[in-house]
Amino acid sequence: MQNLFSTYKIKSLELKNRVVMPPMCQYSVEKKDGIANDWHHLHYVSRAVGGTGFIIVEMTDVEPDGRITDYDLGLWSDEQVPALAKIVEAVHSHGAKIGIQIAHAGRKAEDAAEPVAPSAIPFDENSKTPRALTTEEVKGMVEKFRLAVRRAVQAGFDAIEIHGAHGYLIHQFHSPLTNKRDDEYGQDLTKFGREVIEAAKAEMPADMPLIMRISAREYVEGGYGIEESIEFSKAYKEAGADVFDISSGGEGQIAAWGRPGTHAAYQVPLARQIKEALQVPVMAVGRLDDPILANAVIGNEEADLVQVGRGMLRNPYWTLEAAKQLRKENVVPKQYEAGF
Ligand SMILES: Cc1cc2nc3c(=O)[nH]c(=O)nc-3n(C[C@H](O)[C@H](O)[C@H](O)COP(=O)(O)O)c2cc1C
Repeated sequence: MQNLFSTYKIKSLELKNRVVMPPMCQYSVEKKDGIANDWHHLHYVSRAVGGTGFIIVEMTDVEPDGRITDYDLGLWSDEQVPALAKIVEAVHSHGAKIGIQIAHAGRKAEDAAEPVAPSAIPFDENSKTPRALTTEEVKGMVEKFRLAVRRAVQAGFDAIEIHGAHGYLIHQFHSPLTNKRDDEYGQDLTKFGREVIEAAKAEMPADMPLIMRISAREYVEGGYGIEESIEFSKAYKEAGADVFDISSGGEGQIAAWGRPGTHAAYQVPLARQIKEALQVPVMAVGRLDDPILANAVIGNEEADLVQVGRGMLRNPYWTLEAAKQLRKENVVPKQYEAGF
């Protein structure tokens, strides 16, 4: 029987427990140069000290106009590598593993003068209308993802997550609501995402896992559901995705009838369905910050890994407190034992 504190191994990624810190934008790059700073260093390293098995660095963008805001991290330049490499080294020294989420915001790039997207359809009435990428530019975008992944590997990350969720560029390509192209990238909605995965894998050591984050359902009227997401995930699995990170939504303003749940474990059924249909490892996320519940998700084999986002913003020592509550020993660092 597995539990939250069982070890986990996929390819070369060996984790001491099943607790993951999901990517969470900090919007803290004050210099707007995409380079991680002291805030990012402390933010990630403190969660490693806090016992988290696997940390995923926030959405890190492949070009300046791929950022949600100018305060986001980037990996479009070699100058952005050293600060991330330092975070990786420090996180490793505290016994955790660390991945990074590589992304492009597409039409949701708020500070871009002219955001780009598969088609010229704005996110909502308050958003800029994006410019549709030419076919050549789409191919160029795949190369930008490739170079960002190359730099992430240079920085020493243990895994790469590709952001295919929350209405950002890859999601915009595989959603029929936002991709109205008539070229090869519109006739085949997963072509762009597949090419990004293939380019990433070509840059990664063969035994390094690639995680694909998807929105397993949309909430806007006429959006895709779990059946469609099972189908496009199969294409992504074939292209090389080793693990799926199951989120939902983010594609548009939420229709009243389709609001995502805010109750505990609201996305776990989606994770379980992808796991069963594809026979792949999955990571669950969304209001799983009760340790007993998180432990049950693992024990019931609904997901292989559990992510705690906002719970870890409140408490960097979430994992240590969960260990105490679940009566797991040898988790708390000796310097902190007196507190537990
Ligand atoms: C402040 C904040 C920033 C976030 N940034 C990202 C991000 O960069 N990439 C991403 O895929 N999800 C992002 N998310 C979503 C989280 O990864 C997670 O899926 C969500 O918070 C639900 O999990 P929770 O209930 O444990 O917080 C963000 C969430 C928060 C609260």
